[in-house]
Amino acid sequence: MNSWNEGYFTKSTYTYGYYRELSPNFMRWCLLIKGIVAPELTEESFHCELGFGQGISANIHAAATPGTYFGTDFNPAHANLANELAKTSKSGAKFFEESFEEFSKREDLPQFDSIGLHGIWSWISAENRRHIMEIARRHLKSGGMLYNSYNCLPGWAPAAPLRELLAIYDRYSGKSGAARGRVEPALKFAEEMIAAKPAYMNLAPNFAKTFDHIKKHDPDYLAHEYLNLDWDLMYFADVSEISQEAKLDFAAAAIPLEAIEKLNFTAQASEFLNKIDNPTVKEQAADYFINRQFRKDIFVRGIRKISPIERIDKILGTRYILMTPAENVPMKFNTYVGEVNLPANYYRSILEFLQEDSYRPKNFNEYLQRNTIKDIRNLIEPIIILVNGNHIMPCQSESAVQLVKKNCERLNAHICERAIFESAINFLASPITGMGVPVNRFQQIFLSQYKNVGKTADELAAKTWQIFYRQGQRLFKDGKAIESPEENISYIKSMAEGFLRVQLPIFEALGL
Ligand SMILES: C[S@@+](CC[C@H](N)C(=O)[O-])C[C@H]1O[C@@H](n2cnc3c(N)ncnc32)[C@H](O)[C@@H]1O
Repeated sequence: MNSWNEGYFTKSTYTYGYYRELSPNFMRWCLLIKGIVAPELTEESFHCELGFGQGISANIHAAATPGTYFGTDFNPAHANLANELAKTSKSGAKFFEESFEEFSKREDLPQFDSIGLHGIWSWISAENRRHIMEIARRHLKSGGMLYNSYNCLPGWAPAAPLRELLAIYDRYSGKSGAARGRVEPALKFAEEMIAAKPAYMNLAPNFAKTFDHIKKHDPDYLAHEYLNLDWDLMYFADVSEISQEAKLDFAAAAIPLEAIEKLNFTAQASEFLNKIDNPTVKEQAADYFINRQFRKDIFVRGIRKISPIERIDKILGTRYILMTPAENVPMKFNTYVGEVNLPANYYRSILEFLQEDSYRPKNFNEYLQRNTIKDIRNLIEPIIILVNGNHIMPCQSESAVQLVKKNCERLNAHICERAIFESAINFLASPITGMGVPVNRFQQIFLSQYKNVGKTADELAAKTWQIFYRQGQRLFKDGKAIESPEENISYIKSMAEGFLRVQLPIFEALGL
């Protein structure tokens, strides 16, 4: 290929997403709940993200994880922002503007404790997948973890022709511009075809429903997802075999709930799956029961197991932090096998324990000192369910927190300053968890005003309104612009009161 983009869509930059699965601390914890040893996160650790996009996850993890971060993305606009953020946080991250091929040939890379790639594998060529495996083969430590996510079969099988329709329309449209001008005509074409009821839809009854779901996404996201030259669907076994080139074995899903069998499979499905001896066949067969479209896999180079009792000891010994007020955590949720109702009294006692002392992070040995529990194993399932739902999060060690605190402060201050002008980055870095925390533009402005200007809702409202007023912006309530300054201020004040009462105590506990 002559072009640097190798058929990858580069006419618009990617979205500003954050993914906890790329966090070394989260990867470690997913391995822990499967009883697998993971690298310690220390000052001497090295981590790497491949295809970091706008670099939001990469920078949050570089700032909030001890050690040194590396990464590459061949889109210069992406590398530009990623490096600007790294400079402000002083995390020491080294972000390159190289292709996977160029990066795989570097002679100056360290041995990584973790490598992460999210939203890459299915959208690049087989040759590029080989370059990624070469990076892992040469540079992942023994015991190192690799996170890879990809569109998979069999879940995508019925709707794959829909993607082909969008891609082929675009390829022959003669258009070469930015996302919106290409995505919209392709969507219109597909919509018209669906309205004309092609016979294929009899075979894939969810075709129209999938299209309705797809078309709601942001055009930049859709262009990167569907308009690339490459879009390869694979079964788990295919990816597992390719990963063997770098001596990688599948270890765990970066989806905690998958560690609880009864919440994923009916008794009949479990009985069938548990008769399968080969782990690869079993893992792939499971995808048929779940009808899985997207996998989030953690591979390890040289799996080592810990004993069941050590596993429990370590899960309970980890500190956790509550991410939402205890009373807001729902007591039911949906799984592949239907709705699950949680025993509310038991869960509330756990959540209230974590909320005590202004949300101070706590381990469950402290809970056990105060509560009598018949069997300590009964604590493992609630912990996994609550982490899965993002309601609680595993924390880093106290020493790790000290190492990364300043980097996070600098990165967060910069993101909050940017919030005055735009609402691009809606996440901040927590030194406590080593992960990103969703914080919207208003919350970022309030947080920065609270730290630097004033502490009351009146002060926050007045200062925030000044920012909006200078930019000629108004707030919207029930879809209508609020016109008078007094009404704008009063509306901002009500948001500020909510912020001070509900979010601020959690943000402070998270070290934001
Ligand atoms: C779908 S985006 C995902 C970005 C990010 N991981 C995320 O999830 O937000 C894929 C990224 O991979 C980068 N990319 C694609 N092919 C590449 C290659 N051959 N070498 C380096 N980067 C590549 C693109 O520039 C883009 O930023």
